[in-house]
Parts: sequence; C-alpha cells; structure tokens
Amino acid sequence: MNDNRSAMEADPEINPDVLKSRFGRDIARDFDLDDPRFNEQFDETLNFMVRKCPVVHSQVGTGYYLVNTQDEVRRIAQDWRTFSSAKGYQPNRPEGLPYLMPEESDPPIHTKWRHKLNPHMSPKTVAAYEQPIRDDVNALIDTFIGKGECEFISEFGALLPGWAFFKNILGVPVDDLPMLVEGVEEGTFGPPEERAGHFARVFEYLDTHLKWRQTQPRRGDLIDTIQDGVTYEDGTEAPWEHKVSILVDLTFGGIATTTFVMASAIHHLANNPDVRQRLIDDPSLIENAIEEYTRFFPPVVALGRTCTRDVEVAGTEMKEGDFVMLTYAAASRDPRHMDEPDKIDITREGIPHSTFGVGPHRCIGSNLARIELITTLEEWLKRIPDFSVKPGTEPRHVTGFLRSIRELQLVWPT
Ligand code: HEM
Repeated sequence: MNDNRSAMEADPEINPDVLKSRFGRDIARDFDLDDPRFNEQFDETLNFMVRKCPVVHSQVGTGYYLVNTQDEVRRIAQDWRTFSSAKGYQPNRPEGLPYLMPEESDPPIHTKWRHKLNPHMSPKTVAAYEQPIRDDVNALIDTFIGKGECEFISEFGALLPGWAFFKNILGVPVDDLPMLVEGVEEGTFGPPEERAGHFARVFEYLDTHLKWRQTQPRRGDLIDTIQDGVTYEDGTEAPWEHKVSILVDLTFGGIATTTFVMASAIHHLANNPDVRQRLIDDPSLIENAIEEYTRFFPPVVALGRTCTRDVEVAGTEMKEGDFVMLTYAAASRDPRHMDEPDKIDITREGIPHSTFGVGPHRCIGSNLARIELITTLEEWLKRIPDFSVKPGTEPRHVTGFLRSIRELQLVWPT
C-alpha cells in the first residue's frame, strides 16, 4: 500500500464505523452511486470525498472505483490508452444495451466521428440558434406567467433543452419529446433491470427517424453528416448501428443534463433574493453566474472507463479490466484548485470546473447548453424578477451516475 492509501486508512474520519454512522455505509470501501443516502447527502458526500478520499471503491455488482480529485480525473480522462471508454461509461452495464458512439469508443474511431460532428455544435454554429432559443424561452414563460406559479421541471426545464436541440439541430418533432424524456429518464434512474428496455424505445424511435431521413432530400445538416458516416482505420465503413447510436447519444446528452443546471440555478435564485437582484441590476454577470452554477450543480456525477492494464491511481492498485469512474462532480469542488469550493460565488474568476468532462470525450453540447442556460436566466429575470419556492414544497432530487430534479414548485406575485 503506498503512502496516500495508508494515510487514508489511518485517518479516523475514514474509519468504517464512523463512515457508516455519517453516510449510512462505508463510502470509502463500499460506495454506491444509487444509494438514496448519496442522493440526500450529495454535497456533503462530494465535499468529503474530494478532501479525504482520492479514490473510493464500490462493491456493488462487479465493483468499481471512483476517482475524486481534479488532478487525477484530468490525468485519467486524457489517458484513453490506459482508461478506455470502449467498454461503456456506466458501471455494471445493463445487458442488452447497445454501445453508444462517440461516447463509448476510443480514438481513432472516436476521433473520426468527433471531427465530423464538432462543426455542427461549434460556438459559431450554435450562436445562430440563440434568438430561436430565446424566443422559445419566452414562449414557454408565456404559458404560465399569468398563473403566478409553475412546476418548473414539467412546464419549462424538461422542455427547453429538447426544443433547443430538436428544433434547431435534430429536426424531430417536439411533440415526441415527452416520450423520449421518459425513455432517457427511466433508462437512467429506473430499476436497473428495466433500463435497457427504456433505452431500446429511444433507439427504435431514432432508428426510424434516420431511415425516414434517407427518403428525404439532403439538408446539409447534422443528420446528413451522420448518414454520410466515416471510414474507420481498417477501411470499413461505419455500420448503421453506430449512426443510430450517435443520435441516441446526442439526444441523451441533449435532454438529460441541462435541465438540472437550469433548475438548480433557478432554485438557488428563488432562495437568494440578493443574488437575484445583483443579476437583475447587472445582467452582464449572468454568463459568469452560469459557469459557477454549472460547476456547483453537475448533472453528470461520474462516468467510467475500463483499465486496459494494471495501473496505480493515487495509491490504489487497479487491475486490467477494472472499472473506474471519473467523479467530475467532486473534481469541480477540489479545494486544491479553488478557494471556498463549497460556496456559490457568481463572481468567482476563472472557474476551473470539470462538469463538461475533460479530454477527448469533453462534452460536444457545451456551447449549446450555455446558450440555453444564459438565455433562460436573462429572460426569466426580466419577466419574473420576484419569485420563490412554493411554501410547503421542496424540490425532489434523484441521483445515480447522473443527477436530476424531478419537481420544483415556484410562485410569484401577479
Ligand atoms: C449542462 C449540460 C451538460 C453537461 C453538464 C454535460 C456533461 C457532459 C460530460 C461530463 C461529458 C463527458 C463524458 C465522458 O467523459 O465520458 C459529456 C459528453 C457528451 N455530451 Fe454533454 N453535457 C451537457 C449538455 C449536452 C448537450 C446539450 C448535448 C447535445 C445536444 C450533449 C451531448 C454530449 C455527447 C454526445 C457527449 C459524448 C462526447 C464524446 O464522447 O466525445 N451534452 N457531456
């Protein structure tokens, strides 16, 4: 055992009994992403792990590790040769789930696809969608502003990201959004044995869409680029399943993540009238505030890699084939890289977060997500400057390898 590991074992705070009484289980030696206590003690657990445990182990299923410090997360995310994405991003991967491109692939296959896809999601390309997205923010607000209340998730937060992605990029009808949101949500947070079935519906839908587009004139859009495909290093053409899986991966990323940052920001502003007033008085602070909210409210808690050889990470020996998760959510609160990481500071400078990932798999949708988040705060604060959480209600969170809010009731004077 090397120095880091033995220092951890000697720390009385990491004693199994102490951990069990504080977190309900020995989170250093038997962590569980799906444990309801993790959902309830989310901030406390992340803050504890990033400070005290560079690596924790889970005994759930075939077992996995979580790596929690920013330096190690960054190092592993860059080293795709040792830490491969090709065997999946989730631990104890449900059987029967097809692999997703580009997420569950490594260079050079991954690089081929990202080169093709990146231009469709670049800052310049998505800047053209800012006005349509702003219009949709206002159209959604129009539907409930007069009532003086809303359930933010179902009436706004679960809709806008889908509208932004479907209307501007994917071209699938927004009426089909609820079915896709449900498929993605249940495929992520539902009972593990049912997850593959929910994802299968999303695959089927997007497979049909891609086939239908083959019968249509070319539009020169993202779908045409995916249809055109790529040639892999061995000279073979990317198969049909890879193309459909790209649509699934983009849809999954597009609708399962941004909602959480958006809802968390609105929730924080509902509870902090002083911060709200600052942003109303000086909207130029909104862009930075969004970066800080993205750091502090990470929808992607942790995503995994498979070790391709025996390797040591922060004093923990890992074996070839072991599954290791990069806890992006903990790394974004690393006190070694920022002051007072547990505090939300909308004026924080140079926010060093890893919420969008690091390395070759860094989020392709981050530019689009930022536009959705910034336009939401800008328009919301103009139109509903004074709002609060409905008395007697509390937001409901759900956590696994992703984190999400299921319900957030708001009220305002009319
Ligand atoms: C606040 C919103 C978002 C957050 C926090 C987020 C987070 C992430 C993270 C952490 C990764 C890295 C995965 C890894 O390391 O294996 C990732 C990848 C990805 N994201 Fe996002 N995402 C967001 C929004 C979006 C949106 C809007 C889209 C699409 C419209 C999207 C599509 C994707 C895709 C396709 C990948 C896989 C990229 C690859 O493997 O090369 N994401 N995202």
